[in-house]
Amino acid sequence: GNRSMTLSSSSLEKIDREVAKYPPDWKQSAVMAALVIAQDEKGWLSTETMDFVARYLGMPPVAVYEVATFYNMYNREPTGKYKITVCTCLPCGLQGALDAADHLRKKLGIGFNETTPDGHFTLKEGECMGACAMAPVVLVNNKKMHDYMTHDKLDQLIDELGRK
Ligand code: FES
Repeated sequence: GNRSMTLSSSSLEKIDREVAKYPPDWKQSAVMAALVIAQDEKGWLSTETMDFVARYLGMPPVAVYEVATFYNMYNREPTGKYKITVCTCLPCGLQGALDAADHLRKKLGIGFNETTPDGHFTLKEGECMGACAMAPVVLVNNKKMHDYMTHDKLDQLIDELGRK
């Protein structure tokens, strides 16, 4: 990796604040939050970014890679401007999520883990977001949840984001 890679001072401040929430020996507990902050700034987690987080927290890079690989909220490759994650777990699957996923694939012209040629959208399959009762659910950029996603609502969402 490139040792000169760093994060903005505002990201580092945010990470410091997370680190401060834990006892000194538990710095590693801040890794998940630190990765979210790093991803917010960079858009995705390159090896360089993960190595930086590891150095910053004083932990082995491999431990950081493991966290980044385990949770699908982390992007291990560049994604489109809008990452659209649709929960396809069983409870949602039984309530129209697979149909919603099909609709999104058709509308965007891409499959899961693919990005539209204009770099605007990436489509991902997600794990349970704790909103099974409101299926189908869609998460935009890991943050904004949209529920009861009928085809009309999906079209609206994509059209709206497509203009931004
Ligand atoms: Fe989809 Fe829970 S199974 S939100």
